[in-house]
Amino acid sequence: MSEHADRCPGPARGRYHIETWGCQMNVHDSEKLAGSLEREGYVRAEGAGQADVILLNTCSIREKAQEKVFDELGRIKRLKRANPELMIGVCGCVAQQEGERIFKRAPYVDFVMGPRATASLAPTLERLRDGDPTAWHVVDTEYRRDSILFPFDEIRRDGLGSGKAFVTIIEGCNHRCTYCIVPTTRGREICRDMDEVLDEVRGLAAAGVLEVEFLGQTVNAYRDGRGRTLGALLQATARIDGIERIRFTTSHPAQMTDGLLDAMAAAQPKLCPYLHLPAQSGSNSVLKRMRRGYDRAGYLSKIGGLRSRIPGIELGGDMIVGFPGETEEEFEKTLSLLDEVRYGTLYSFAYSPRPGTAALGLPDELPLETKSERLQRLQARQKRIQEQANERWVGCELEVLTEGPSKRDPEKWTGRTVHNRIVNFSGPGRAGRRQTVKITESTAFSLAGHIQPGLA
Ligand code: SAH
Ligand code: SF4
Ligand code: F3S
Repeated sequence: MSEHADRCPGPARGRYHIETWGCQMNVHDSEKLAGSLEREGYVRAEGAGQADVILLNTCSIREKAQEKVFDELGRIKRLKRANPELMIGVCGCVAQQEGERIFKRAPYVDFVMGPRATASLAPTLERLRDGDPTAWHVVDTEYRRDSILFPFDEIRRDGLGSGKAFVTIIEGCNHRCTYCIVPTTRGREICRDMDEVLDEVRGLAAAGVLEVEFLGQTVNAYRDGRGRTLGALLQATARIDGIERIRFTTSHPAQMTDGLLDAMAAAQPKLCPYLHLPAQSGSNSVLKRMRRGYDRAGYLSKIGGLRSRIPGIELGGDMIVGFPGETEEEFEKTLSLLDEVRYGTLYSFAYSPRPGTAALGLPDELPLETKSERLQRLQARQKRIQEQANERWVGCELEVLTEGPSKRDPEKWTGRTVHNRIVNFSGPGRAGRRQTVKITESTAFSLAGHIQPGLA
């Protein structure tokens, strides 16, 4: 039993509700926020309407993501009217970016807390509960190292039953891509100590986790205080009994060193043969304006290096269309990159101007219609690629880590292959276990099949 359970107070202090937007790092931060609240004696509410504390863990990567937060705050406002004791906190990247300004738009918010200040949650709530008049409208966007070095047994991990867990190993980003808000909201890179990360992984393995995913905005920049890199971490993790699958995300192409590629090959078969490696554009001139630090040939040579070392490795990517000044010709270079790489998964976005970023100063912001038309063309092209790629799996028996019942159809189960493909299948499913599924159908976005007797 953990030390924290021994100290857990008797009656619940109140109920909490957390809403999360954004990347896996934010999802994982919410697990930490929930852990802090539970340590303080709060229990999870059925929904926002039943909560005494509501946290919005926000994302500001694109304007739309940011606006969703204010829409949601508008809805929560009436809850505060009905219950003036309710505490509302805005956390995450919008909190860091907007700070005080959040109170101007939503004065009923009690506190604003940046992603590097999450360790301050408990003391902030205490001040608010005690009626400290200076605590009202608290803004905390300072960096606290213990927000990142969070005690892992205090993280509330909802997904343990699915056999998977996230482990943040590096926070922040030292790059300065001209379109991106992340360096502003998350600050410069900070790495955790590798021994501490490995202890956490061993603890997860003991709790029945089969798959760990290491997280960071630039996860492959990981290097701890003793100079140990992501490659070393992957190989050490592959030696931990009970861990069967290892993933990491998101990698920056400029930092895919030969040493890391070799370590990835050495960590086979536990390291999943899938890598998310965003290119952002296929055009050299756009990549330069984005300040990505590589060109198309450099990107493709990393992919060549991966494919020669790990045959059959699948790739995922991110693309931005409609970057300022993007010509039709430049956009077509991105389309041709899709044909050349043949990504298994692709996230694509229309460029969204972000406050304080260098791209704001670039000429020729494109009209919305051009951006959406290009986005549609890109997505249609990628859909065909994925349809063809997924068809190849029909008739195969694939190993799936079963996550749980499918959200769309509770009669079915859902899981992922080592190549990160979603598989929906008919039972008997066993959440958190590796199972073999006979694939009978495919679409661009998932595979479908069934467990065959004797295969489960
Ligand atoms: N660290 C990751 C990216 C994290 S942000 C990397 O370097 O690849 C996730 C994705 O959001 C990015 O890969 C990019 O494709 C997209 N994105 C970031 N800023 C954006 C903006 N201003 N407009 C549109 N898409 C953006
Ligand atoms: Fe943003 Fe670039 Fe850093 Fe990724 S590498 S988080 S896109 S600045
Ligand atoms: Fe969004 Fe912040 Fe993640 S801006 S994508 S939640 S790092």
